[in-house]
Amino acid sequence: MSRTLVVNIGLLVTNDLSVDGGPLGVIENAAFIVEDEIVTWVGANGDVSHKDVSNTVDAHGRCVIPGFVDSHSHLVFAGDRSAEFRARMQGEPYAAGGINYTVELTRAASNGDLLASARRLFAEATASGTTTMETKSGYGLTVDDEARSLAVAKQITDETTFLGAHIVPKEFKSSPEDYVDLVCGPMLDAALPNSKWIDVFCDKGAFTADQARRILSAGMAKGLLPRLHANQLEPGEGVQLGVELGAASVDHVSHLSDADVAALSKSKTVATLLPGAEFSTRSAYPDARRLFEAGVTVALASDCNPGSSYTTSMPFVIAVAVRDMYFSPEQALWSATKGGAQALRRTDVGHLGKGASADFSILGTHTYMHLAYRPGVQLIDEVWRHGVRVK
Ligand code: NIG
Ligand code: FE
Repeated sequence: MSRTLVVNIGLLVTNDLSVDGGPLGVIENAAFIVEDEIVTWVGANGDVSHKDVSNTVDAHGRCVIPGFVDSHSHLVFAGDRSAEFRARMQGEPYAAGGINYTVELTRAASNGDLLASARRLFAEATASGTTTMETKSGYGLTVDDEARSLAVAKQITDETTFLGAHIVPKEFKSSPEDYVDLVCGPMLDAALPNSKWIDVFCDKGAFTADQARRILSAGMAKGLLPRLHANQLEPGEGVQLGVELGAASVDHVSHLSDADVAALSKSKTVATLLPGAEFSTRSAYPDARRLFEAGVTVALASDCNPGSSYTTSMPFVIAVAVRDMYFSPEQALWSATKGGAQALRRTDVGHLGKGASADFSILGTHTYMHLAYRPGVQLIDEVWRHGVRVK
């Protein structure tokens, strides 16, 4: 067994309520022990046992945080949409239809190219402190192209999501119900071996709530777990559908009614906010304070995709959430770690208590505050995933 000691931590964020009664569970002058890939002891630096140590990591007073849990991304695609971004910055609105352009390029790409591109983005995310990452299909939209997208996704993460219902592809424009039949039938069957979750883009220009219900129910009947892109572009029934179906998360949620907020607050469904999308589409941010006040669990994720949010950086997401959405730095860090874990129904990641997976970052500074206070600056010195240093 390998035994690693992480010592001289100036400020340790555990996300363990029992430590100090606060959500971040911070300990000053801390240390912890990792045995193989699990945290087995957390406490004061002076109390750590140096017995049978294989490896000692000296944090030299820096801050250590749990690895980011990015619960929403779209890493499997080809090409980019920089021209669309340029037009948008000149005043063009964002519309779901841009997805079709990426679909064309993705269908034409080889499996090797798709995997190389997804791996490059995953490595980028890792370098900025992400240790758990969900990712989706959704730029193939044929049986074969969705199946191979998920096979690529599965090579980088176990948190894979079938998003055949991202948009109705051009060839089904005049018969969208036929496309829904395809998604619920042969496409779902082909996606199953490499999917854990099923998702639908339930919004203007994409799928209706009735279609979303059919698709999610078909996936759930075959053992997939539901999550939902909902209420990004306009108000709708998506949030309440997600709650009704027990979705782990409803994502985007920029347009919320009082009934949506009430439904979320009584449920275990997490509201996942994706500030990169509002930032890059120059849209209004969702009202996070309203969600916090209602007691809704809030996650922050990157939504990395070539259209609406081409970033893998969770520190950037935290900085925007604090600057523009009035998250406190503590709320933002919690939502990007434990909130993301809850959006994936994971209890082993997103915290650094005893029994947690040893997934953490050593920052290049003494406090997590700098993630928001020093936007755009590279602040992640070291990243460890499952007890192994990956940066
Ligand atoms: O999460 N909302 C739907 N899908 C993506 C956008 C995809 C794209 O524009 O390529 C999102 O923002
Ligand atoms: Fe998305």
